[in-house]
Amino acid sequence: MGKISPSILSADFTRLGEEVEAVEQAGADYIHVDVMDGHFVPNITIGPMIVKAVGRITRIPQDVHLMIADPDSFIDVFVKAGADILTVHAEAATHLHRTVHQIKALGARAGVSLNPATPLDVLDYILPDLDMVLLMTVNPGFEGQAFIPEVIPKIQRLKERIDRLGLQTEIEVDGGIGPDTINRVSSAGADVFVAGSAIFYSDDYRKTIQLMRDEM
Ligand code: DX5
Ligand code: ZN
Repeated sequence: MGKISPSILSADFTRLGEEVEAVEQAGADYIHVDVMDGHFVPNITIGPMIVKAVGRITRIPQDVHLMIADPDSFIDVFVKAGADILTVHAEAATHLHRTVHQIKALGARAGVSLNPATPLDVLDYILPDLDMVLLMTVNPGFEGQAFIPEVIPKIQRLKERIDRLGLQTEIEVDGGIGPDTINRVSSAGADVFVAGSAIFYSDDYRKTIQLMRDEM
């Protein structure tokens, strides 16, 4: 069954603890943490202190999405803070193989993310080593953007490749996902669904998560 990973980027930060507890109670599978540095993406968000704080109030895995330049310098600090899955962008990592193995050596699950315009080929020699591939369905940087449908054939191609190789790698999609779009990405082969605004801006988190599951 597909997994739901609510992005706390859309949570009310004055009540972050309550918000995390609320999505956990509502049936979230992961907590998605969007880290932005103002270099790789045109926005600055949160860092390892928040990962550490979130880890104190939830037991569900933290799915940490690094949208930062030069991720190698920060792998260690995020895993120590409590990241269970750590995802870096292929576009930001100069030595992707080293970065991925650095994450795994520290005991976390390793993910690689691709922007909408980045071809799947960059994964050719690293895919078997990955626990997750995050295909961006918006250009990273902000919550609440419109889903880019051109990514759908890319999800299908990645799914075929993973199945052909007999891998267990999860395909995660991120950006503009909610009850209205989840069916298209789920049918294409995605396994993990990030949703920020669709969950946190709804009146009833449980109902929204259930609706997303029903639409999968
Ligand atoms: C975008 C982030 C996403 C974003 C999702 O750069 O990586 O995780 O917060 O927000 P929605 O679901 O509102 O598109
Ligand atoms: Zn994200």
